[in-house]
Formats: sequence, C-alpha cells, structure tokens
Amino acid sequence: MSETARIILDGKEYELPVIEGSEGEKAIDISKLRATTGYITLDSGFKNTGSTKSSITFLDGEQGILRYRGYPIEQLAENASFLEVAYLLIYSELPNQQQLDWFTNSITMHTLVHEDMRRFFEAFPNNAHPMGILSSMISSLSTYYPESQNPNRPFKDIELTIHRLIAKIPTLAAQAYKNNLGHPIMYPKNELSYTENFLYMMFGLPSSDYEVDPVIDDALNKLLILHADHEQNCSASTVRIVGSSQANLYSSISAGIAALWGPLHGGANQAVIEMLETIKNDGGDLTKWVDKAKDKTDSFRLMGFGHRVYKNFDPRAKIIKKAADDVLDKLGIDDPVLDIAKQLEEVALKDEYFVERGLYPNVDFYSGIIYRALGIPTEMFTVMFAIGRLPGWIAQWKEMTENGEPIGRPRQIYTGANNRDYVSVEKR
Ligand code: SDX
Repeated sequence: MSETARIILDGKEYELPVIEGSEGEKAIDISKLRATTGYITLDSGFKNTGSTKSSITFLDGEQGILRYRGYPIEQLAENASFLEVAYLLIYSELPNQQQLDWFTNSITMHTLVHEDMRRFFEAFPNNAHPMGILSSMISSLSTYYPESQNPNRPFKDIELTIHRLIAKIPTLAAQAYKNNLGHPIMYPKNELSYTENFLYMMFGLPSSDYEVDPVIDDALNKLLILHADHEQNCSASTVRIVGSSQANLYSSISAGIAALWGPLHGGANQAVIEMLETIKNDGGDLTKWVDKAKDKTDSFRLMGFGHRVYKNFDPRAKIIKKAADDVLDKLGIDDPVLDIAKQLEEVALKDEYFVERGLYPNVDFYSGIIYRALGIPTEMFTVMFAIGRLPGWIAQWKEMTENGEPIGRPRQIYTGANNRDYVSVEKR
C-alpha cells in the first residue's frame, strides 16, 4: 500500500500521496494541494521543494555522493572523455565506439561560428566580461538558425541544435578571450579532440605552432566532466523554467549562463581566487578572514565554501584538490595561493561555525587554482564552468520537454496593500 501524508487544515484531515525515488528519497506530492485544500506551500529558495522527477543525476549531500545516470563521478572523471560524459547525460547511456565516433564527428563538423558573428565581438568593449559575451552570443545563435525557434520540431532537428551548441561554445569562449586580448582569433582544427581544440583556440597564435600539453589537456577533460551536471541547481532550474515556456534551446541555455554568472553559483570560482589573492596581499592572516566570514555584520563570505545540498565534502572538490596538486607538480608550478587555500580549509574545518553548519569546500574552491595553472585568466573561470555544464543543462531541458512538463509558474502569498481607491495627485 503506497504511503500517504496526512495534514489537518481548518479542522479537516487531508491525505496526500507520498512518492519514493529509485534511491529511497521521499516526497509529499502536493500537485493537487490547492485544488483540494485551497492552501499552497511557501519555501523561499526552494530549499525543501522538488521541482521535478529526474533520472539524470543523483547526489546525496550527507554522504557526498554524485552520480551521472548511475555512474559515480569518481569513475567518470578517471576513465571517460568529456564527450563520452556529454553523450551519457544527453542520451542516458554511455556510447559504444560507433555511437561515440558519430557524436564526436557531428560535434567536430559544427565547431565553426558564422563569420558575421565576429562583428558582435568587435562591438563589445575590450574589458567586457566573457560571461556577458557568452550569454549574448549563445542567445544570438538562435537568430542564425530561425528553424530552431519552433519548439515542436522533431527531435532529429532539435538534436542538430544540441550538437551545434556543444560544438560552438568552446569556439565562442575562445573568441571572447582573443577579443579581450586584441589578438587574432584561431579557427578550430578538426584533427584535434574537443579539449585540445579549445586549448588551441585559446592559446594558439598564427605566428607559431601550439602543442597541447597532455597534462593540461587531461586536467581540462577532468574539470569539464566534474562540472557537467548537478541536478536542479540554480542555473539548471533556470534552463528548465525558461524552456518550459517553449522558448528555443539557445535562449534557455543563454539564461542558464546568466544564472551561473552569479558569485553565489558558478561565479564563485572567480570570487575564490580574488578572495585568496586579497588574503595573500593582506598578509595571509587566515584567522582574521575566517572571523570576518563568521561575522553577521560583515558581508564577507568564504567563497568556495558551503553548499545548498552538500553538508559534507563536495565529492568534486576532493577530486579537484588532488588534481590541483598533480597538475601544479607536473607543470612545476609553485602557486602560493594553493597553499593559502589549503591552510584556509584547515582553519575553517577546525572552526565550529563551519562544522556545525556543514560548510565544506565546494567544487569552486580549488577549481580556479587549476584553471590558473592551465593559463586560463580569472575572468574566464566561470566560462569554463559553463562549457562543462552545457551537456547537463541540455539533458535537463531535454528531460523537461520529453516529459511534457507544464510551464513553470510558482504561486505566491500576497502581503501588500488591500483594496483601495485611486486618489488624484492633488489630494495625495
Ligand atoms: C555552486 O546548487 C548547486 O548544485 C550549485 C553547484 C553546481 O554544481 O551547480 O554545486 C555550484 O554554485 C557551488 C556554490 C558556490 N558558491 C559559493 O561558494 C559562495 C559561498 N557559499 C555561500 O554563499 C552558500 O554556502 C551557498 C550559496 C552556496 C549556499 O547557501 P544556502 O544553502 O542558501 O545556505 P545559507 O546561505 O542559508 O547558509 C546557511 C548558514 C548561514 O548562517 P546562519 O544563518 O545559519 O547563521 O551558513 C552560513 C550562512 O551565513 N554560510 C556561510 C557560507 N555559506 C553559508 N558563512 C560563511 N561563508 C560561507 N561561504
């Protein structure tokens, strides 16, 4: 007999169905609550509210578990390529060799961006933040493919949009970087892998041969996999709710990029490095900064610490922390900011304020240190997060559309003025 939840409202008892997921998570299904009781629920920030049922990513914040379509993140980061993981998230299964070759070839064939879009880059100021450029350019892609704006096109046509997005985001990101430097852009090379191509477009120069360092390429592949999806986070929820209006996929992804930009979300990786640099330049007094983070009258927060779901170690942070050591060691880089990060983590995790609130390093705490070692500038860190997260956003959007989910439109509790009559300006 399926479980139910009983509530008593205005002296009347109601039964609400309880649903259970494949990992034993339970929810009270309130989809008929207002119709049967006249009540709604209120949950600022949706801390206790599920927006959907999903089979893409499972995470357990208490156990520090993260799996994409059932595969542990640790195994994927160690053994898979980023395009394999992108295929897994979007098509639900790991590809066989034929499927992977088909997917890789299709992505490779769509890496170029329409030449007219170069004029967009010329219009941006030199110091334009690359996330503002990326969000604009991804939305602008929809104007070059007007057929993509029909929400009811057969999946095969939508699939072309999916492949175009995955193929073009590294090209657009690298062009934003080159534009910022005032350097000539580098066109994608079909013989390079997805990650090699990005590094080539970022750091290659017409005047010299650029050899991709396998250490850097391997680290980038791992970082992109670790960022590929994270269930109903702020930006994924944004993509789903924009897509629920049947806006085209380019617009939904552009909105996701905008949401990711925030320092409380994906923008934290840039904010972490800026914070560590500030602490280093301030003399490295870690206790001072940990105390500031605890002080409610101080707006300073320990960026890269804390998470809405993980109240234990973010499994991605563990992998990235080890990768940071490996990459800096292999590249022979001694980055004092990494030492400060490790010392800060040690001081914070001995402090009961952080321990009792379950505030541990999250995915953003160490990722910037690796991006920096790879030669990627700080303002591009969140762009790297977006490139990694794109397949996850696409998978979330695809699941929402295939499930025929309704347009997202939350209710509210009104707390404003009651009914009153208009008064002419002379009488106010
Ligand atoms: C990402 O959702 C996802 O999955 C996101 C993400 C993904 O892959 O998509 O994992 C990526 O966005 C990681 C998070 C990156 N953001 C940061 O590192 C910014 C710093 N972290 C915080 O702003 C905060 O921890 C959040 C935003 C991440 C989570 O905030 P919540 O869940 O709303 O928790 P909260 O703000 O209510 O904090 C609970 C308590 C509060 O203190 P009390 O009211 O209990 O006294 O913890 C405190 C907060 O003040 N707190 C912090 C803190 N984070 C929370 N105090 C100091 N420093 C911090 N970083």
